[in-house]
Amino acid sequence: MKKTYGIVIVGCGHIGLEHLEAVYYRDDVNLIGTVDLNKDAARFAAKKFGAKSYGTDYKEYLNRDDVDIVLIATYAKTHLQILKDCLQAEKHVLCEKPIATNLADGKAFFEAAKASGSKVLIAHVLRHNATYQKAAELIQSGLIGEVRLIRMVQNHHVMDKKRYAALLRDCPPIIDCAVHYVDVIRWFTGLEIRSVGGVGARIGDIAPEGSYNYGMMTMELSNGGVAYYEAGWSSTNASQNLKEFIGDKGRLRINLQANRASDQEEGDSIEWYDAESKSYHVINSPSVYKNMYGQLECLIKMIEGEAGSPTMEDAYKAFCLTILGDRAIREHRVIPVTEEELYR
Ligand SMILES: NC(=O)c1ccc[n+]([C@@H]2O[C@H](COP(=O)([O-])OP(=O)(O)OC[C@H]3O[C@@H](n4cnc5c(N)ncnc54)[C@H](O)[C@@H]3O)[C@@H](O)[C@H]2O)c1
Repeated sequence: MKKTYGIVIVGCGHIGLEHLEAVYYRDDVNLIGTVDLNKDAARFAAKKFGAKSYGTDYKEYLNRDDVDIVLIATYAKTHLQILKDCLQAEKHVLCEKPIATNLADGKAFFEAAKASGSKVLIAHVLRHNATYQKAAELIQSGLIGEVRLIRMVQNHHVMDKKRYAALLRDCPPIIDCAVHYVDVIRWFTGLEIRSVGGVGARIGDIAPEGSYNYGMMTMELSNGGVAYYEAGWSSTNASQNLKEFIGDKGRLRINLQANRASDQEEGDSIEWYDAESKSYHVINSPSVYKNMYGQLECLIKMIEGEAGSPTMEDAYKAFCLTILGDRAIREHRVIPVTEEELYR
């Protein structure tokens, strides 16, 4: 008989509720508890998703036998301590990215996860998105030739200043979000990143003084190509989403369903331009942007003996490269990616 996994979620904010929305009604999931430092948020989540209990201290759930998996959906600075407590209690963990906000904590996170008998999956949710999986497959098949330029933009028009200010107290948007896209570059192309650079700016007052809420990270790829990732969160930024891969035979662009001009019913679209025939092709891709259940199912499969996606090594490498990108922005210089710079 299929096992049912007892789950506790720690952090019932924006992404915590998205996790719950997709997982609580599944047959192989039993929502034991919802936890948030804000008791009202924990109570709301428990009520909305039918959790058996709620609380403000996750430790109260860690010695219970009916809890198998902890979903960590709190701020990045808290991830390491919560992970350590969960692993000590022999719980499996699905943890939101980024794993930490600095290299030392990230290294401690990686080492604790590797040394544990429990399974740990980092929430690189795009790995579980059917459109991204299809785009990866097309690029890896050689459809656009050798990838030379990758342009990635993810700007947010901020309405809820309080929520973004809390995230920005933790880390700038480059550390928060580039981990996804550094992973996408390595996953889609199999290329490594040879050097990182970038610029950052403080727009308005939601980022702490001395930090930035707009960042552009530039990357030189191991085949001589280049990539950039841009992330800005401010009330004057426009929301923008661009994911474009340019090769020497063609170009591929991912358009999310919400950004399509027409036929949104068809889902996302992958737009492919073929240079030789000068023709455009649209590949429709019905997909869920944040496939939270697919992601949790990946952890469940890991518990049952399969490999995870991304591996802990890939998630850790994306994290270290992103931390290096943040350093390049703060130090106003291009930093070559060497073992010493990456893991120091
Ligand atoms: N994968 C994605 O697409 C995605 C999207 C958004 C956010 N995130 C990540 O999720 C994490 C949370 O972001 P968010 O947007 O949900 O923030 P949020 O502010 O909406 O929610 C965070 C919640 O965690 C709670 N919390 C903080 N510390 C806690 C602790 N020690 N114990 C219990 N509860 C605690 C806060 O009270 C808050 O309710 C961040 O790491 C962020 O990078 C990922």
